[in-house]
Amino acid sequence: MHTTLSMSSAELDEHDIDAVMAVLASGRLALGPYMREFEEMMAAFAGVKHGVGVSSGTAALHLIVRSLDLQPGDEVLVPSFTFAASVNVLLFERLLPVFVDIEPDTFNLDPADIERKISPKTKAIMVVDVFGHPAPWDELLALAKQHNLHLIDDCCEAIGAEYKGKRIGQFGDAGAFAFYPNKQMTTGEGGIIVTDDDRIAELCRSMANQGRGQMGAWLVHERLGFNYRFNEMAAALGIAQLKRLETFMAKRAHVAGMYQAALAGVEGLRPPIVRSEVKMSWFVYVILLNEGYDRDQVMAAMQEQGVPSRGYFAPIHLQPYMKDYPSRGGDSLPITESVAQRTIALPFHNNITEGQVDQVAEALKQTL
Ligand SMILES: Cc1ncc(COP(=O)(O)O)c(C=O)c1O
Repeated sequence: MHTTLSMSSAELDEHDIDAVMAVLASGRLALGPYMREFEEMMAAFAGVKHGVGVSSGTAALHLIVRSLDLQPGDEVLVPSFTFAASVNVLLFERLLPVFVDIEPDTFNLDPADIERKISPKTKAIMVVDVFGHPAPWDELLALAKQHNLHLIDDCCEAIGAEYKGKRIGQFGDAGAFAFYPNKQMTTGEGGIIVTDDDRIAELCRSMANQGRGQMGAWLVHERLGFNYRFNEMAAALGIAQLKRLETFMAKRAHVAGMYQAALAGVEGLRPPIVRSEVKMSWFVYVILLNEGYDRDQVMAAMQEQGVPSRGYFAPIHLQPYMKDYPSRGGDSLPITESVAQRTIALPFHNNITEGQVDQVAEALKQTL
């Protein structure tokens, strides 16, 4: 008997319900104590001084970019093999995305291609720890130092991951986590900026709250700002979820292990590769088809057997809207273009059963 498979599913229980109900009972729904507590917990978790809760991962990235005093036309290196928000926040600020290729094993950005594409106008690297696998931080930190570049960490997919024993979020000038319900932990919608930099934290906090100063009056706006505020229900949910994140991560690692075992004998694909120096925080489980397969056909055939899947990622430099925006580097992304035609995210969440994993593996085997 086959059970219904979903691509992702948040794990919610009575702790979460009680936490949100307590906020409602308190009557204080915004800019209150839960947000502060969540920010402090997340900063401690990521090993940094500051956390600034905001309304989404995109908002977190946007505010980090704005806090760096970049000028229109400045170049920012960014992978194309990412979620659109990593690139869009650069376009919001009229910065020039310079697309860099990825490494064929982890799909993270390739330091060698970064070196090739650095120019005198390059001011920053938008690093993405893709699918929860940490980027090659030693190389990135060395390049940033050598060329005097900012490092923004889009770690929206990598909460809890570690690089050489240190948690992701503490490596760049600032990092952004995201809490949409498909993530390892959720606040419904939400995001947070984590940083050791006092100035970035203060600017981001002000810009998220309409440019108000920390002690200022409600109608005094010290700078141009947004309404990117987090809310108390989301913060309370975040606190309850963060307390269980280690358990969630262990469950996800267990599911990944079951997939790894079930797919070992399936010809025509490569399961995910995890480098020895990292601890993966499994966001999605993405396989790579061998060359020659038509991904859309494979996904359609799996769907006929009741198995949903997604073509993660569709490269950003090939997205329809990008023709309206200047960019550089999109003409030399051979690995990105090859990989992105062949990657498939399989159903993946904390509570997928062994039977469901077998069902997915069997459907893949039949199809390939
Ligand atoms: C790599 C990456 N960056 C940014 C985001 C944006 O996060 P949000 O959807 O919370 O705005 C996401 C999540 O969807 C993501 O996966």
